[in-house]
Amino acid sequence: MALKSKPANIDDVYNFWENNPLFVGESSSDIGSFDYFKEHRKVYIADCYAGNFDDRMLPNIENREKVLDLGCGPGFWTIELQKRCSIEAMFSADLTQQAIDLTKKRLEYYNLKAETFKENAEDLSFSDCSFSHVNCQGVIHHTPDTQQAISEIARVLQPNGRACLSVYYQNIILRNWGVFGLLGRLVSLKGRGRENLADTSDASDIVRCYDGSDNPIGKAYTKQQFIDMLSPHFEIEEIYYHFFPARALPVRIPKFLHRFLDQRLPFMIYANVRKKQC
Ligand SMILES: C[S@@+](CC[C@H](N)C(=O)[O-])C[C@H]1O[C@@H](n2cnc3c(N)ncnc32)[C@H](O)[C@@H]1O
Repeated sequence: MALKSKPANIDDVYNFWENNPLFVGESSSDIGSFDYFKEHRKVYIADCYAGNFDDRMLPNIENREKVLDLGCGPGFWTIELQKRCSIEAMFSADLTQQAIDLTKKRLEYYNLKAETFKENAEDLSFSDCSFSHVNCQGVIHHTPDTQQAISEIARVLQPNGRACLSVYYQNIILRNWGVFGLLGRLVSLKGRGRENLADTSDASDIVRCYDGSDNPIGKAYTKQQFIDMLSPHFEIEEIYYHFFPARALPVRIPKFLHRFLDQRLPFMIYANVRKKQC
């Protein structure tokens, strides 16, 4: 009889991301070098937004006082938010030390500042009502208790505080993997063990494997599931979509096609939300 494997826990999540920070295994430059960060920024904007950064992700003018980049990874958002709008105080947190160290390095290269913290999004050490805005991109779908992480984001936000969150989206491909998976076998995706993606079984397993075949947790949500998770704590101001991972394809696709797929076949769903009044 096959043994049932234990569900992944936060230590498994830590071990994976500590050893496989975002973009490692996808760059020819040394991890933490200036070229590494430059290439990461280029690829991130090209892939996540088909080359057109989306200003809807920036904090509103009235929410720029104390901003937390939660699950900062190698620091793309910590830098980008400060370069694109005048944030009074920037804070960056991640589960892993690697992410904190990379974010600090990235800040140095751009001569910017942020306070950095090693934190579990499910159990933040910050006091209630600490921040005016929380940015949390592609993080809570990797943690065991996503709903608990959402409660914590709400707790640390000030009254009227806002957040911009994103998770993997169950688009038509992920909802119908039985059919598309067969096609997937014809296309071998590049980087971070994505060659094994065709052997995956369902939406969550596919997005788990997209970030690395050893990645313990990935989850993909429908629009309604995302709304249901956010609604207990937040008024939802806007929902939108992006991300077609062209960089993993075996051939380059033209920009116009990438823009079309970014809108018609997006793999991430985004929400701009405001904390509900108590
Ligand atoms: C896919 S990366 C996204 C990084 C960054 N937000 C971005 O968009 O570039 C996921 C990050 O979430 C972090 N993470 C996963 N679970 C976490 C948790 N429970 N608390 C804090 N960070 C977490 C990982 O360490 C990793 O750096």
